[in-house]
Amino acid sequence: MPHTVIIHAKSVRTHLDKLEKWGLSGTAFEIDGVETDKSIECYLKIIDFLTENNFKRSDLLVAFGGGALLDLVGFVAATYMRGVDVIFVPTTLLAMVDASIGGKNGLNRPWAKNIIGTTYLPKKTVIDIEFLSTLPEDQLYSGYVEMVKIAALSDDGFLQKLHYPPTLEMIDQARQLKEEIVKEDLLDHGKRALLNFGHTVGHALEVLNKFKMHHGEAVQHGIQVEMELLNAPDDFIQTVGKKLPYNKKIPSVETDAFLSALKKDKKNLGEKIGISNPFYRQGGGYIRYFSVNDVLDAYLRVLVS
Ligand SMILES: NC(=O)c1ccc[n+]([C@@H]2O[C@H](COP(=O)([O-])OP(=O)(O)OC[C@H]3O[C@@H](n4cnc5c(N)ncnc54)[C@H](O)[C@@H]3O)[C@@H](O)[C@H]2O)c1
Repeated sequence: MPHTVIIHAKSVRTHLDKLEKWGLSGTAFEIDGVETDKSIECYLKIIDFLTENNFKRSDLLVAFGGGALLDLVGFVAATYMRGVDVIFVPTTLLAMVDASIGGKNGLNRPWAKNIIGTTYLPKKTVIDIEFLSTLPEDQLYSGYVEMVKIAALSDDGFLQKLHYPPTLEMIDQARQLKEEIVKEDLLDHGKRALLNFGHTVGHALEVLNKFKMHHGEAVQHGIQVEMELLNAPDDFIQTVGKKLPYNKKIPSVETDAFLSALKKDKKNLGEKIGISNPFYRQGGGYIRYFSVNDVLDAYLRVLVS
């Protein structure tokens, strides 16, 4: 029998016994399971725990928590002894519809998000919406923004029918839409860039806020600014805008810090800032490129409107 280590967020301690229903039990290791845990320090803490407990290549990791914990434990799984099996059990809406799919994992540095990471698929993912019963509403909104994003990328009417709070069927549909894109482009050389819609500006805002803003909230502001930059059709702006759950007010930013964060985006080409393009069917490719000043101008236009 493989030895199972369940790495879980403090916030889901009360749900641990529910894992047995899914045939999962083992040694529990608790971490805070928050964004600042996506760090080299926390990564090494887990590696050291596994080593001290003689965790072997044939053993099993379970990642039980939100997207931050999944990204961290996914990276541990990918790199401990060059790769061990991991089962993802997402406990936030965002992790269910987004972070648990597609195998991307990552650690942050204080000046850049997800700057370290690999692509490594979990052996299995368990979705159980019972875990959402303890999730605060502002965190549910965060996942809902990613559902709006994936719906905005699809042309099958999902955006129109999507509503808050989402049903299990909607969660399944959002998962499927992401899985289809990932299947076409696992290693992110083409279409997968679409999933970053709203994230160039969103990630810059997260850096500026020292990762204290909810990921989904930052992405919501990012979507608003990127729609302006891409000159999105009015009906698209209206439909997407109506679904976005947080207060629509865009935060003002310190210009130099904002531009410096934008310049670190992985989609950039030379000096140009890469923006995911949901309108690729009309041309322009999956990523369109703009000058930093174009992005700043769009930001300021949305900020004052
Ligand atoms: N790998 C990917 O493809 C991918 C995609 C999207 C986002 N992400 C990453 O996901 C992270 C954001 O994930 P998130 O929104 O889940 O936030 P999170 O993981 O930071 O969780 C938010 C908070 O909710 C707590 N929590 C988790 N489950 C809970 C529950 N059931 N009840 C009560 N509290 C609970 C967490 O402990 C944390 O304090 C970011 O780091 C982002 O970069 C990764």
